Amino acid sequence: MQKTTNFFVFLWCVLAAVILLDSCTHDPIFEEIPVTPVDTSGQPIDSMPIDTMPVDTMPVDTMILLEPCEPDLIYFNQQVLPILLSNCAFSGCHDAASAEDGVILESYESVIETADVEPFNLNDSEIYEVLVDNDLDERMPPEPTGPLSSTQINLIATWILQGAEDLECDPNAAGCETDGISFSGFVFPLIQNNCEGCHSGNTPAGGINLINHSTIAAQANAGSLYAAINHEEGFEPMPQGSDKLDECTIEKIKSWIDEGAPNN
Ligand code: HEC
Repeated sequence: MQKTTNFFVFLWCVLAAVILLDSCTHDPIFEEIPVTPVDTSGQPIDSMPIDTMPVDTMPVDTMILLEPCEPDLIYFNQQVLPILLSNCAFSGCHDAASAEDGVILESYESVIETADVEPFNLNDSEIYEVLVDNDLDERMPPEPTGPLSSTQINLIATWILQGAEDLECDPNAAGCETDGISFSGFVFPLIQNNCEGCHSGNTPAGGINLINHSTIAAQANAGSLYAAINHEEGFEPMPQGSDKLDECTIEKIKSWIDEGAPNN
Protein backbone atom coordinates (compact mmCIF):
# COMPACT_ATOMS: atom_id res chain seq x y z
CA MET A 1 0.00 0.00 0.00
CA GLN A 2 2.72 2.39 1.08
CA LYS A 3 4.59 1.51 -2.08
CA THR A 4 1.67 2.38 -4.34
CA THR A 5 1.26 5.75 -2.60
CA ASN A 6 4.94 6.53 -3.05
CA PHE A 7 4.68 5.59 -6.66
CA PHE A 8 1.82 8.03 -7.19
CA VAL A 9 3.68 10.80 -5.42
CA PHE A 10 6.59 10.11 -7.72
CA LEU A 11 4.31 10.20 -10.76
CA TRP A 12 2.89 13.60 -9.69
CA CYS A 13 6.38 15.01 -9.34
CA VAL A 14 7.35 13.86 -12.81
CA LEU A 15 4.13 15.29 -14.20
CA ALA A 16 4.64 18.62 -12.45
CA ALA A 17 8.21 18.80 -13.72
CA VAL A 18 7.08 18.11 -17.29
CA ILE A 19 4.40 20.81 -17.07
CA LEU A 20 6.87 23.33 -15.69
CA LEU A 21 9.45 22.58 -18.34
CA ASP A 22 6.80 22.63 -20.99
CA SER A 23 5.53 26.06 -20.01
CA CYS A 24 9.09 27.37 -19.87
CA THR A 25 9.78 26.30 -23.41
CA HIS A 26 6.55 27.97 -24.61
CA ASP A 27 6.94 31.35 -22.99
CA PRO A 28 9.43 32.89 -25.39
CA ILE A 29 7.40 31.74 -28.37
CA PHE A 30 4.40 33.74 -27.19
CA GLU A 31 6.56 36.78 -26.63
CA GLU A 32 8.20 36.62 -30.00
CA ILE A 33 5.16 36.32 -32.23
CA PRO A 34 3.12 39.51 -32.07
CA VAL A 35 1.08 38.65 -35.19
CA THR A 36 -2.72 38.46 -34.99
CA PRO A 37 -3.89 38.10 -31.41
CA VAL A 38 -4.70 34.48 -30.62
CA ASP A 39 -6.75 32.85 -27.94
CA THR A 40 -5.33 29.91 -26.01
CA SER A 41 -6.62 27.47 -28.63
CA GLY A 42 -4.35 29.22 -31.13
CA GLN A 43 -7.09 30.23 -33.55
CA PRO A 44 -6.81 33.68 -35.14
CA ILE A 45 -9.56 35.93 -33.73
CA ASP A 46 -11.28 36.32 -37.09
CA SER A 47 -12.03 32.63 -37.39
CA MET A 48 -13.18 32.22 -33.79
CA PRO A 49 -16.78 31.41 -33.09
CA ILE A 50 -18.37 34.50 -31.56
CA ASP A 51 -19.01 33.01 -28.12
CA THR A 52 -15.32 32.27 -27.54
CA MET A 53 -14.12 35.74 -28.55
CA PRO A 54 -12.35 37.78 -25.92
CA VAL A 55 -14.94 40.19 -24.57
CA ASP A 56 -13.35 43.44 -25.71
CA THR A 57 -13.24 42.37 -29.35
CA MET A 58 -16.93 41.41 -29.51
CA PRO A 59 -19.33 43.50 -31.54
CA VAL A 60 -21.17 45.71 -29.05
CA ASP A 61 -24.64 44.23 -29.46
CA THR A 62 -23.45 40.69 -28.71
CA MET A 63 -21.90 41.66 -25.37
CA ILE A 64 -23.73 40.17 -22.45
CA LEU A 65 -21.91 41.81 -19.60
CA LEU A 66 -24.35 43.73 -17.49
CA GLU A 67 -26.14 42.43 -14.43
CA PRO A 68 -29.93 42.58 -14.27
CA CYS A 69 -31.10 45.83 -12.64
CA GLU A 70 -31.76 45.79 -8.88
CA PRO A 71 -35.10 47.50 -8.16
CA ASP A 72 -33.70 49.33 -5.11
CA LEU A 73 -30.64 50.82 -6.77
CA ILE A 74 -30.56 53.99 -8.85
CA TYR A 75 -28.77 53.72 -12.19
CA PHE A 76 -27.53 57.15 -13.26
CA ASN A 77 -27.62 56.81 -17.05
CA GLN A 78 -31.01 55.13 -17.12
CA GLN A 79 -32.82 57.06 -14.43
CA VAL A 80 -31.15 60.34 -13.45
CA LEU A 81 -29.63 61.50 -16.73
CA PRO A 82 -32.89 61.49 -18.76
CA ILE A 83 -34.44 63.83 -16.16
CA LEU A 84 -31.46 66.20 -16.37
CA LEU A 85 -31.34 66.10 -20.17
CA SER A 86 -35.02 66.87 -20.63
CA ASN A 87 -35.28 69.48 -17.86
CA CYS A 88 -31.91 71.18 -17.53
CA ALA A 89 -29.38 70.52 -20.30
CA PHE A 90 -30.80 73.04 -22.79
CA SER A 91 -29.17 75.81 -24.70
CA GLY A 92 -29.17 78.86 -22.44
CA CYS A 93 -29.14 76.63 -19.34
CA HIS A 94 -26.94 73.65 -18.51
CA ASP A 95 -25.74 72.21 -21.80
CA ALA A 96 -21.97 72.27 -22.38
CA ALA A 97 -22.10 75.43 -24.55
CA SER A 98 -24.11 77.52 -22.09
CA ALA A 99 -22.85 76.06 -18.78
CA GLU A 100 -24.91 78.51 -16.73
CA ASP A 101 -23.11 79.05 -13.38
CA GLY A 102 -20.44 76.66 -14.63
CA VAL A 103 -22.87 73.76 -14.28
CA ILE A 104 -23.09 71.21 -17.10
CA LEU A 105 -25.69 68.47 -16.77
CA GLU A 106 -25.05 66.39 -19.85
CA SER A 107 -23.27 63.27 -18.63
CA TYR A 108 -22.19 61.52 -15.44
CA GLU A 109 -18.73 63.07 -15.70
CA SER A 110 -19.98 66.62 -16.22
CA VAL A 111 -22.49 66.31 -13.38
CA ILE A 112 -19.84 65.07 -10.95
CA GLU A 113 -17.35 67.72 -12.06
CA THR A 114 -19.62 70.75 -12.10
CA ALA A 115 -22.78 70.24 -10.05
CA ASP A 116 -21.40 70.02 -6.49
CA VAL A 117 -22.53 66.49 -5.77
CA GLU A 118 -21.52 65.31 -2.29
CA PRO A 119 -22.05 61.55 -2.22
CA PHE A 120 -24.24 60.32 0.71
CA ASN A 121 -24.97 63.93 1.76
CA LEU A 122 -28.05 65.79 0.53
CA ASN A 123 -27.46 69.01 2.49
CA ASP A 124 -24.05 69.54 0.93
CA SER A 125 -25.19 68.61 -2.56
CA GLU A 126 -25.99 71.82 -4.44
CA ILE A 127 -27.65 69.83 -7.23
CA TYR A 128 -30.26 68.64 -4.70
CA GLU A 129 -30.58 71.89 -2.75
CA VAL A 130 -31.66 73.87 -5.81
CA LEU A 131 -34.42 71.37 -6.58
CA VAL A 132 -36.12 71.95 -3.23
CA ASP A 133 -35.20 75.59 -2.53
CA ASN A 134 -38.17 77.58 -1.20
CA ASP A 135 -36.71 80.76 -2.64
CA LEU A 136 -38.16 80.73 -6.15
CA ASP A 137 -35.25 82.84 -7.44
CA GLU A 138 -32.90 80.02 -6.48
CA ARG A 139 -35.11 77.03 -7.26
CA MET A 140 -34.32 74.93 -10.35
CA PRO A 141 -35.67 74.64 -12.95
CA PRO A 142 -36.32 78.40 -12.68
CA GLU A 143 -39.69 80.10 -13.07
CA PRO A 144 -41.92 80.03 -15.00
CA THR A 145 -41.11 76.30 -15.26
CA GLY A 146 -42.48 74.39 -12.28
CA PRO A 147 -40.32 72.26 -9.98
CA LEU A 148 -39.48 68.66 -10.84
CA SER A 149 -42.06 66.16 -9.63
CA SER A 150 -41.56 64.74 -6.14
CA THR A 151 -40.87 61.33 -7.71
CA GLN A 152 -38.06 62.84 -9.78
CA ILE A 153 -36.64 64.76 -6.81
CA ASN A 154 -36.75 61.61 -4.65
CA LEU A 155 -34.99 59.65 -7.33
CA ILE A 156 -32.13 62.16 -7.52
CA ALA A 157 -31.96 62.28 -3.71
CA THR A 158 -31.77 58.48 -3.50
CA TRP A 159 -29.02 58.45 -6.11
CA ILE A 160 -26.95 60.86 -3.97
CA LEU A 161 -27.69 58.94 -0.74
CA GLN A 162 -26.56 55.74 -2.44
CA GLY A 163 -23.19 57.35 -3.16
CA ALA A 164 -23.85 59.14 -6.48
CA GLU A 165 -22.35 56.26 -8.40
CA ASP A 166 -22.41 55.47 -12.10
CA LEU A 167 -23.93 52.00 -11.82
CA GLU A 168 -24.91 50.07 -14.90
CA CYS A 169 -27.36 47.24 -15.40
CA ASP A 170 -29.30 45.54 -18.15
CA PRO A 171 -33.01 46.34 -17.80
CA ASN A 172 -33.81 43.58 -20.27
CA ALA A 173 -31.59 40.87 -18.82
CA ALA A 174 -34.61 38.60 -18.56
CA GLY A 175 -35.58 39.34 -22.19
CA CYS A 176 -37.79 42.06 -23.61
CA GLU A 177 -41.36 41.57 -22.38
CA THR A 178 -43.71 43.68 -24.50
CA ASP A 179 -47.04 42.20 -23.39
CA GLY A 180 -49.40 44.02 -21.06
CA ILE A 181 -47.63 47.40 -21.12
CA SER A 182 -49.62 49.92 -19.09
CA PHE A 183 -49.79 53.68 -19.47
CA SER A 184 -49.46 54.37 -15.75
CA GLY A 185 -46.79 51.76 -15.04
CA PHE A 186 -44.51 52.25 -18.02
CA VAL A 187 -45.40 54.80 -20.69
CA PHE A 188 -46.19 57.81 -18.49
CA PRO A 189 -43.14 57.60 -16.18
CA LEU A 190 -40.93 57.18 -19.25
CA ILE A 191 -42.41 60.26 -20.95
CA GLN A 192 -42.22 62.25 -17.70
CA ASN A 193 -38.52 61.53 -17.35
CA ASN A 194 -37.48 61.75 -20.99
CA CYS A 195 -39.85 64.18 -22.68
CA GLU A 196 -42.02 66.26 -20.39
CA GLY A 197 -39.31 68.80 -19.54
CA CYS A 198 -39.53 70.08 -23.12
CA HIS A 199 -43.10 69.11 -23.94
CA SER A 200 -44.96 70.96 -21.19
CA GLY A 201 -45.65 74.47 -19.96
CA ASN A 202 -46.97 77.51 -21.78
CA THR A 203 -44.72 77.11 -24.79
CA PRO A 204 -44.13 73.36 -25.19
CA ALA A 205 -41.50 72.27 -27.71
CA GLY A 206 -42.93 71.96 -31.21
CA GLY A 207 -46.28 73.09 -29.81
CA ILE A 208 -46.71 69.54 -28.47
CA ASN A 209 -47.73 68.86 -24.88
CA LEU A 210 -46.99 65.43 -23.43
CA ILE A 211 -48.37 65.93 -19.94
CA ASN A 212 -51.22 63.45 -19.46
CA HIS A 213 -52.95 60.53 -21.10
CA SER A 214 -55.00 62.49 -23.60
CA THR A 215 -52.11 64.60 -24.93
CA ILE A 216 -49.81 61.57 -25.18
CA ALA A 217 -52.47 59.32 -26.74
CA ALA A 218 -53.15 62.04 -29.34
CA GLN A 219 -49.52 61.87 -30.54
CA ALA A 220 -49.56 58.08 -30.28
CA ASN A 221 -52.69 57.69 -32.39
CA ALA A 222 -51.45 60.22 -34.94
CA GLY A 223 -48.37 58.02 -35.49
CA SER A 224 -45.92 60.80 -34.61
CA LEU A 225 -44.96 59.48 -31.16
CA TYR A 226 -43.64 56.17 -32.46
CA ALA A 227 -42.14 57.73 -35.62
CA ALA A 228 -40.26 60.32 -33.56
CA ILE A 229 -38.79 57.88 -30.99
CA ASN A 230 -38.02 55.34 -33.72
CA HIS A 231 -36.17 58.09 -35.65
CA GLU A 232 -38.17 57.61 -38.82
CA GLU A 233 -37.56 59.75 -41.85
CA GLY A 234 -39.62 62.91 -42.02
CA PHE A 235 -39.87 63.20 -38.22
CA GLU A 236 -37.74 65.01 -35.69
CA PRO A 237 -35.74 62.36 -33.79
CA MET A 238 -36.74 62.26 -30.11
CA PRO A 239 -35.78 62.62 -27.31
CA GLN A 240 -34.06 65.66 -28.81
CA GLY A 241 -30.39 65.97 -27.88
CA SER A 242 -30.21 62.53 -26.23
CA ASP A 243 -29.40 59.02 -27.41
CA LYS A 244 -32.19 57.05 -29.03
CA LEU A 245 -34.20 55.09 -26.46
CA ASP A 246 -33.17 51.42 -26.33
CA GLU A 247 -34.89 49.00 -28.72
CA CYS A 248 -36.84 47.20 -26.02
CA THR A 249 -38.29 50.45 -24.66
CA ILE A 250 -39.35 51.45 -28.18
CA GLU A 251 -40.95 48.02 -28.71
CA LYS A 252 -42.85 48.33 -25.43
CA ILE A 253 -44.25 51.73 -26.41
CA LYS A 254 -45.18 50.38 -29.84
CA SER A 255 -47.02 47.48 -28.25
CA TRP A 256 -48.99 49.93 -26.06
CA ILE A 257 -49.82 52.06 -29.13
CA ASP A 258 -50.86 48.94 -31.09
CA GLU A 259 -53.31 48.14 -28.27
CA GLY A 260 -54.96 51.52 -28.96
CA ALA A 261 -52.92 53.62 -26.48
CA PRO A 262 -55.25 52.79 -23.56
CA ASN A 263 -55.38 54.73 -20.30
CA ASN A 264 -54.50 51.63 -18.27
C1 HEC B 1 -34.66 68.80 -25.18
C2 HEC B 1 -36.02 69.03 -25.55
C3 HEC B 1 -36.86 67.86 -26.02
C4 HEC B 1 -36.99 66.64 -25.45
C5 HEC B 1 -36.26 66.09 -24.22
C6 HEC B 1 -37.94 65.92 -26.25
N1 HEC B 1 -38.39 66.70 -27.26
FE1 HEC B 1 -39.79 66.19 -28.64
N2 HEC B 1 -39.50 67.94 -29.60
C7 HEC B 1 -38.66 68.96 -29.20
C8 HEC B 1 -38.71 70.01 -30.15
C9 HEC B 1 -37.93 71.33 -30.04
C10 HEC B 1 -39.59 69.61 -31.17
C11 HEC B 1 -39.97 70.37 -32.42
C12 HEC B 1 -38.92 70.07 -33.44
C13 HEC B 1 -39.15 70.78 -34.72
O1 HEC B 1 -40.29 70.85 -35.13
O2 HEC B 1 -38.15 71.23 -35.26
C14 HEC B 1 -40.08 68.31 -30.80
C15 HEC B 1 -40.96 67.56 -31.56
C16 HEC B 1 -41.53 66.36 -31.15
C17 HEC B 1 -42.53 65.62 -31.89
C18 HEC B 1 -43.06 65.97 -33.27
C19 HEC B 1 -42.09 65.33 -34.24
C20 HEC B 1 -42.43 65.53 -35.66
O3 HEC B 1 -41.50 65.54 -36.48
O4 HEC B 1 -43.62 65.67 -35.98
C21 HEC B 1 -42.86 64.53 -31.14
C22 HEC B 1 -43.89 63.46 -31.47
C23 HEC B 1 -42.03 64.58 -29.96
N3 HEC B 1 -41.25 65.71 -29.99
C24 HEC B 1 -42.04 63.61 -28.98
C25 HEC B 1 -41.09 63.55 -27.98
C26 HEC B 1 -40.97 62.42 -27.09
C27 HEC B 1 -41.86 61.20 -27.13
C28 HEC B 1 -39.93 62.69 -26.28
C29 HEC B 1 -39.36 61.82 -25.20
C30 HEC B 1 -39.04 60.45 -25.54
C31 HEC B 1 -39.41 64.00 -26.62
N4 HEC B 1 -40.14 64.47 -27.67
C32 HEC B 1 -38.36 64.62 -25.97
C33 HEC B 1 -37.89 68.97 -28.04
C34 HEC B 1 -37.75 67.90 -27.17
